[in-house]
Amino acid sequence: MLFVGLLSFLLVLLPITAGANDNLVVQKSVPVLLFSHKVSPGLLKYQKNYDPKTTVPIESFEIISHELIDHCNSDTYIYVNIPGLRKLDLIEYEDELKFLQRYLNQSSTKLKFEQVKNLPEDYYSDLTTYTKDTCKFEGYISLHGNNSDDFTTYLDSGKRIIEINYSPLPDDDVARLQSIIDFDLYFREILAQLPSPDQTIILTSLHPSLVPERDYKSMPIFPKLFEDLNEVEKNNMILDVAPLTNKFSPKFSGMEDVPPNVFDIQFYNENKIFILTIIIVFVTFEILSVSKLFGKSKHSSQKPNPKKDLKIEEKREIYSLETEKEGRTVLTKVNKGKTISKDD
Ligand SMILES: *[C@@H]1O[C@H](CO)[C@@H](O)[C@H](O)[C@H]1NC(C)=O
Ligand SMILES: *[C@@H]1O[C@H](CO)[C@@H](O)[C@H](O)[C@H]1NC(C)=O
Repeated sequence: MLFVGLLSFLLVLLPITAGANDNLVVQKSVPVLLFSHKVSPGLLKYQKNYDPKTTVPIESFEIISHELIDHCNSDTYIYVNIPGLRKLDLIEYEDELKFLQRYLNQSSTKLKFEQVKNLPEDYYSDLTTYTKDTCKFEGYISLHGNNSDDFTTYLDSGKRIIEINYSPLPDDDVARLQSIIDFDLYFREILAQLPSPDQTIILTSLHPSLVPERDYKSMPIFPKLFEDLNEVEKNNMILDVAPLTNKFSPKFSGMEDVPPNVFDIQFYNENKIFILTIIIVFVTFEILSVSKLFGKSKHSSQKPNPKKDLKIEEKREIYSLETEKEGRTVLTKVNKGKTISKDD
């Protein structure tokens, strides 16, 4: 019993001491994750042909990232720089990066490269320009550090590029772990505020630092998430949109918003007398016009100014035709007039 306890104590201690004894060496390559919510066909070949032991040259990585952007299938392009991030972070802190993994898992297209030759510091500036030109984007938001306060929620459907420059990861193990945990929450906070789930994300470090020697070893990042990749649209539009329809509540704020319909029984009941009056007036007017027309044809020679009268009759007939056609509109107008005069 004592022996087992001692052994497990040593086992717990082992990784800590191993980490502490590791010599720091210059970081030669950075890990990169690229993922898009919607499927970006044609990119899987880069993943399938990739050997994690090799380092992807900058030129090749540029081709891959451009090809991902070329699809323009996202409403937001998010370029995340975690200064000092190394392959080991994504392996040793796998459990802490819950939300990152969740977003990766939901993505229709996802690529990971354990080793990409250190990218230039302004890589995202170039990528931003490329995205703006390719996808005709105008919006750009730059976020710094671990503060989401300066990120104002935008609810319009505008297409944007968000560049995140997270706080540099500390070297101290405990502080580094905390910073990773904070990043995961921060990342989720930003993504959750976006109005559209259609996002394309590139995450890496643009500021290489020193790494423990064991970072040079070949190790797979998030192996479970990259087990069997295929080019399938994971995110069915209907499924995504469905919860929103529940929130929709039609607003009713009276007559002004909902035009009255003569065929609406409630409207008819409320305005029965008024509608009948209009019909009676209309019919009477028609009868009078017709009888006048007949009377005129009989005594046309007696009229001193027949031309003028005829013109008026024509006008009246046109008007009554119009009222017939646009009965609904006239009713609405008259009804509004009535309400106004009531208020007066
Ligand atoms: C990824 O998501 C699927 C469901 O969509 C789930 O069954 C699976 O466990 C997830 N994998 C990981 C590693 O989170
Ligand atoms: C990040 O921000 C959160 C919330 O504001 C805070 O609790 C945390 O200490 C910050 N972490 C770092 C490493 O700055």
